[in-house]
Amino acid sequence: MTAGAGQPAGQRLGTGGFETLAIHAGQEPDPRTGAVVPPIYQVSTYAQDGVGGLREGYEYSRSANPTRTALEECLTALEGGTRALAFASGMAAEDCLLRTVCAPGDHVLIPHDAYGGTYRLFDTVLSHWGVSYRPVHLADTGAIRQALAERPVRAVWVETPTNPLLSVVDIAVVAQACREAGALLVVDNTFASPYLQNPLALGADAVIHSTTKYLGGHSDVVGGAAVVADPELGERMAYVQNATGGVAAPFDAWLTLRGIRTLGVRMERHGLNAARVADMLATHPAVTEVLYPGLPGHPGHEVAAKQMRGFGGMVSFRVRGGEETAVAVCGRTRLFTLGESLGGVESLIEHPARMTHASVAGSPLEVPGDLVRLSVGIETVDDLVEDLRQALPG
Ligand SMILES: Cc1ncc(COP(=O)(O)O)c(C=O)c1O
Repeated sequence: MTAGAGQPAGQRLGTGGFETLAIHAGQEPDPRTGAVVPPIYQVSTYAQDGVGGLREGYEYSRSANPTRTALEECLTALEGGTRALAFASGMAAEDCLLRTVCAPGDHVLIPHDAYGGTYRLFDTVLSHWGVSYRPVHLADTGAIRQALAERPVRAVWVETPTNPLLSVVDIAVVAQACREAGALLVVDNTFASPYLQNPLALGADAVIHSTTKYLGGHSDVVGGAAVVADPELGERMAYVQNATGGVAAPFDAWLTLRGIRTLGVRMERHGLNAARVADMLATHPAVTEVLYPGLPGHPGHEVAAKQMRGFGGMVSFRVRGGEETAVAVCGRTRLFTLGESLGGVESLIEHPARMTHASVAGSPLEVPGDLVRLSVGIETVDDLVEDLRQALPG
């Protein structure tokens, strides 16, 4: 038996709502002490009852650890998968998934707009191992179908909404195209979080998260996760995860799980605050374009309204005056902290071209220099709006 591979917590809990699952899935009170929160099993190895006599399948913490199991069961329930695996970072999750499903000679379609680190993984790491990639406008269904028809494709990698341009991809449409072409569909669900979007229910084969972001939610832990629909893929990934070792540490798994318990209420507030910020920016004379799927004029608004339960907390915008103005705005906010990352309770501002997306400079994924990205936190929204107003040129 594989530790933690029993009946998914979501099934054990029946048809609980999202917040119920977030608080209870994988998190039954400790059977020995009644502790209501899963303990941090800060342990590397486990006593065996005779050689090979494992207690509940636990042998060594790279293979499985009870705190990590609790997180994995909760993630399985929240994404509606059959299995989740928790990693040391989002990139470790991406790497494990790709090394599980791809072999030398395989080809992957990636978004024309994606997290810079994902592009870097394809461009400078996996390419050396014979895995090729091609950026495609994934919001353009015709372009995907054409790329799928041109040559065999092992996997299609989707981000929606994308980082940093907030483009929206119709997951169900791409899933159908992938099924017809025999390609695996992977969706990076970091920006939406499982509270707002469940790609597996829309036909994806695997979901990736940087749990560093909304799932953890407090900017105090780096982590990643993969959740899959097919148990056999889950088994193969668990094998590679154990063989390569990029697992979530017990304390990191515990912190992530603590964050997840409030994901629902946080995402509600992130969404409300982001909508107010987007509305203010949309009427500001220094702003030339606001990229937020909640705005009716956003090209992906209708698809987002169909496949998401809200529009999230990320807002990007372009400024009059180009790159220097964008950089200056990033340096003038007082409440929005200038920094990389996103999804925490505190608001962050950054300049993608020089920060998170510096690795795509000169590539087809290059982002505009006049772009500013906001991770809108859950502070008092009037304070956030006021901070941006004073930072923007008058
Ligand atoms: C959309 C997206 N996916 C994946 C990652 C990588 O996650 P991590 O930084 O936890 O390795 C990030 C990081 O910013 C991201 O924004």
